[in-house]
Amino acid sequence: MILPFTPEALARAADALLRGELIAFPTETVYGLGARADEPTAVAKIYAAKGRPADNPTIVHAATAEQALALAQEVPEAARALAHAFWPGPLTLVLAVRDGAGAPAVLAGGDTIGLRVPAHPVALALLARAAVPVAAPSANRSTGISPTLAAHVECSLGPELMVLDGGATGFGIESTIVDATSSPARVLRRGSISLAQLSAITPTIDLGSEVHEAGVRRSPGTSSRHYAPATPTHLRSRAQIDQADVSRLALLILGDRTAPSAFASLQLPADPLAYAHGLYAALHTLDGRGASEIWIEAPPDEPAWAAIQDRLRRATSVR
Ligand code: TXA
Ligand code: MG
Repeated sequence: MILPFTPEALARAADALLRGELIAFPTETVYGLGARADEPTAVAKIYAAKGRPADNPTIVHAATAEQALALAQEVPEAARALAHAFWPGPLTLVLAVRDGAGAPAVLAGGDTIGLRVPAHPVALALLARAAVPVAAPSANRSTGISPTLAAHVECSLGPELMVLDGGATGFGIESTIVDATSSPARVLRRGSISLAQLSAITPTIDLGSEVHEAGVRRSPGTSSRHYAPATPTHLRSRAQIDQADVSRLALLILGDRTAPSAFASLQLPADPLAYAHGLYAALHTLDGRGASEIWIEAPPDEPAWAAIQDRLRRATSVR
């Protein structure tokens, strides 16, 4: 059930969270499926609702940096600097977990915890009011497309779930995950905050592809098929799209141009921020059109597009 954000809805959602129930809420990246992180039975409901494998840990959200970092065993200087620079905001810091700081399922049996202070007024209001750390993966079935609208959540997880409606999320792709237990810090998942932005604060390397190639499941969001529509989806060059018979296809066109007449088509701006903002909603829409395939026009191979390239590769990787 989708609840418009009102003081009454906030109170109801915070009470439900404290009772150990699931609440979906907007963040500045995507909608999260929240449960109190200190309560094993509550956390178990997240894994059941998503069909999420037990070996995939869940990010824990808090209202302030102080509350978030209190869940860590130790906070290296680099982590403190990153938290100071980017929180509240779309950065997840992986740190050594303090004993007993989260239900074991949140950590997936590991000894680290992913921490984040989201920059969204609804998320922050809920976290502040509940005053408990909240475990929240993206509010979709495991491996599916992340939700950027309340309606996406309802569509993926069903009408019983309480969803606080905050409209469309801002960035539209998930937080950047940085492992701050090592020096230099390492990007485990590309996201809204770029390597250049991180490196301006502390030396950081992007291990994303190497982690994947080594087959090390440091961050299962880095496993290859993820963020994927149900319709077979492929990346194609502009030339391939313009030369093919696209009459049975759903197209995602880059930039403002005349699209070939396809079964269905949408356009996204040729600007990385605006593209990320609209990407998942476009995939949700095209996936629902019943086309035989979705073809996505490949964006430029440039650093500003790195996080988007990453999500598109996963959306189009074969099962
Ligand atoms: O933007 C976001 O991060 C959104 C919003 C709701 O905060 N959340 C999100 O959660 O994308 P999820 O569960 O869909 O992706 C979380 C990723 C997974 O790839 C998981 O493996 C990784 O974070 N992760 C969580 N805790 C971790 C840890 N201790 N060590 C390494 N990776 C971790
Ligand atoms: Mg997810």
